Amino acid sequence: MGGGSTYTPELVDGFARLRDALPVAELVLIDPDGERLELVGALARRILARQGHPGRVTWTADLDAGVDGADAVLLQLRVGGQAARQQDETWPLECGCVGQETTGAGGLAKALRTVPVVLDIAERVRRRSPDAWIVDFTNPVGIVTRALLAAGHRAVGLCNVAIGFQRKFARLLRVAPEEVALEHVGLNHLTWERSVTVGGEDVLPRLIAEHGDAVAADLRMPRSVLDRLGVVPSYYLRYFYGHDEVVRELRTKPSRAAEVAAMERKLLSLYADPALDEKPALLAKRGGAFYSEAAVALTASLLRDTGDVQVVNALNDGTLPFLPDDAVIEVPAAVDARGAHPLPVRPLEPLYAGLVANVTAYEHLALEAALKGGRDRVFRALLAHPLVGQFDHADRLTDALVAHNREHLAWA
Ligand code: G6P
Ligand code: MN
Repeated sequence: MGGGSTYTPELVDGFARLRDALPVAELVLIDPDGERLELVGALARRILARQGHPGRVTWTADLDAGVDGADAVLLQLRVGGQAARQQDETWPLECGCVGQETTGAGGLAKALRTVPVVLDIAERVRRRSPDAWIVDFTNPVGIVTRALLAAGHRAVGLCNVAIGFQRKFARLLRVAPEEVALEHVGLNHLTWERSVTVGGEDVLPRLIAEHGDAVAADLRMPRSVLDRLGVVPSYYLRYFYGHDEVVRELRTKPSRAAEVAAMERKLLSLYADPALDEKPALLAKRGGAFYSEAAVALTASLLRDTGDVQVVNALNDGTLPFLPDDAVIEVPAAVDARGAHPLPVRPLEPLYAGLVANVTAYEHLALEAALKGGRDRVFRALLAHPLVGQFDHADRLTDALVAHNREHLAWA
């Protein structure tokens, strides 16, 4: 779903390379944009053909026909495209709040646009292919997954932050990625690596001591954050730990949405070249690195009932005892044909638990607003968000959110 995305060649490249883990018989690209489908679909065929993959690639704008008989449905859509993202990254700055597509007020706008669309898709999947697994990497993944699970869908949420750290740490430590196990904990885009185990030993202290500069540079955080906390926060924590600095920076440079839109134009012109039969290097400049590997691994475990451990977004169900059972958390989980089952988590220190509890409450209110609509529900979600919090800011941001998203909100 969202098969016309410029990201699709990344996914197809993963299907081609990892065919032993997940032998794809047919890939159906579904998208409302027929032109993009033609372009991306034809390239997907060339990528599989080049690698001698026997799978079929087809495409359609007809959602119901497209999902018919599917074993798994991958969601990678963006309601409103980069134009809507550009808005999410801009208007929150007027209140001195971070403008970001998944964090803060912009993330709430994205959730409100996205949840109803995803739930409609999931309902149609359930009608056509009741046993299909839904793998969601549509952002904001935490809230979207919570919406899917609350509606009783067979769904797991996925993000590439954990696999990105696993690959990065493996390179620094000169070991194979499979040898690196992360103790990754939190909510989607609000996580910390508490330990990094290689061969039964926690190498995180050594990793920070020897490679702290490289890790901190990637996160765009001062190295002292790693030294003093002794954990590795995801780069999304910069929007909290470095909030005011980020706001200053965002006010002076072009938005990420504008950068990505330019990249997408370039990518689409590359895709139009019939001689191209692999994913172009430019795609690596997008944030979604390794997401195809994570998606293949997760889908394979769901369909093949492997029970191996992967970092995913799943129902809390008592794992973090200070959160409601119906919260969605991002932790290592055993994945089999019945879904993703979080492994036990060591008690979370108040330093992290406080923020996790706060953002979980926000996500609850955000989902309420997305499902039921109404200005007051939007206001309450914003007031509950740790990066908004103030009454007058929440009020002004509510007006801005509604004004910029009217065409996407049935109730506005
Ligand atoms: C990371 C996040 C994704 C997000 C992406 C943005 O990969 O985990 O959830 O979509 O970054 O990348 P972009 O290239 O669109 O800025
Ligand atoms: Mn993500």
